[in-house]
Amino acid sequence: MTQEFDALLDQARRDVTAAADARALDALRVELLGKKGRITELLKRLGTLQGEERKAYGERVNTLKEAVAAAIESRAAALAEQELHARLQSEAIDVTLPGRGEPTGGLHPITRTIQRICNLFGELGFETVEGPEVEDDFHNFNALNIPEAHPARAMQDTFYVMNGARLLRTHTSPVQIRTMQARKPPIRIICPGRVYRCDSDRTHSPMFHQVEGLYVAERVTFADLKYDLHTFLSRFFERDVEALFRPSYFPFVEPGADVHMRWAQADGSSRWLELLGCGMVHPKVFEAVGIDPERYTGYAFGMGVERMAMLRYGVDDLRLFFNNDLRFLEQFK
Ligand code: FA5
Repeated sequence: MTQEFDALLDQARRDVTAAADARALDALRVELLGKKGRITELLKRLGTLQGEERKAYGERVNTLKEAVAAAIESRAAALAEQELHARLQSEAIDVTLPGRGEPTGGLHPITRTIQRICNLFGELGFETVEGPEVEDDFHNFNALNIPEAHPARAMQDTFYVMNGARLLRTHTSPVQIRTMQARKPPIRIICPGRVYRCDSDRTHSPMFHQVEGLYVAERVTFADLKYDLHTFLSRFFERDVEALFRPSYFPFVEPGADVHMRWAQADGSSRWLELLGCGMVHPKVFEAVGIDPERYTGYAFGMGVERMAMLRYGVDDLRLFFNNDLRFLEQFK
């Protein structure tokens, strides 16, 4: 009997050691110690024995049972440790690796340019004001001395909406009208925003941005306009800009001018580039908004933001700003 028990214990220990995982080990536990397990069967033999023999047998089966249970326990602990080790290995994090980082966005170059323009005029005492992009005829044209059938309307080929009752503003000048209607001079404002025209080529886009400037007070002169624009342009381009005021026609100013700036070429020569339109507010505009033209004078100007951004960043095709190509946009981050 001792031999049978020793053989059983040997076999059980080998099997337990060979159990590859918790499931195999559990199956062994059932096979050996379960209700119908081999050791349980041995215990049942107790009933057939008496006295000393029964006592000795009982002790030996119990010793066997405990030895098998201990082997299973220790294998279970070893398997659990193995599993934990494997998990630690597979989930290991190398905390010394550099982080992957989150990709960061950046402001669009047109937004940056608008902010730069508004900040620089802010330093000159201008307040930033905005207005609606869907306008009516009065604010976009009539109040600006562009009556119906005036040829200047054709210069700004227009997107009409609501059967012609409204239009997408063709310039930011209606914001000066709205501001002058709402406030009394002195007024010193800068108005950035989107404008729309039926225009499309390398330097013209159907949607583009302008910044309007307006200064109305007593005794504002063309000299103020020249000084302020020259100061702004020199700060914007970070050098002493050579600016040329060339007479030009806008129905809402008199006199009116286009501002050109000398621009160096790669071959060493230079040429004049048009930057913006400007002039002294026309008395008819003051009358349309109820400001006394005998008492107040003012200057106004309007510049294309894309044109300013193209010059500052050396971009030669305006459409690049709107193609949303990240390779282009990421250069301005
Ligand atoms: C005007 O829009 C006037 N309201 C400006 C003004 C304001 C003059 C106050 C006097 C007093 P103009 O149509 O020239 O003017 O447009 C101004 C600038 O907008 C141009 O110099 C140009 O830089 C830009 N621009 C015009 N059309 C386009 C376009 N389709 N795409 C991109 N930029 C444009």
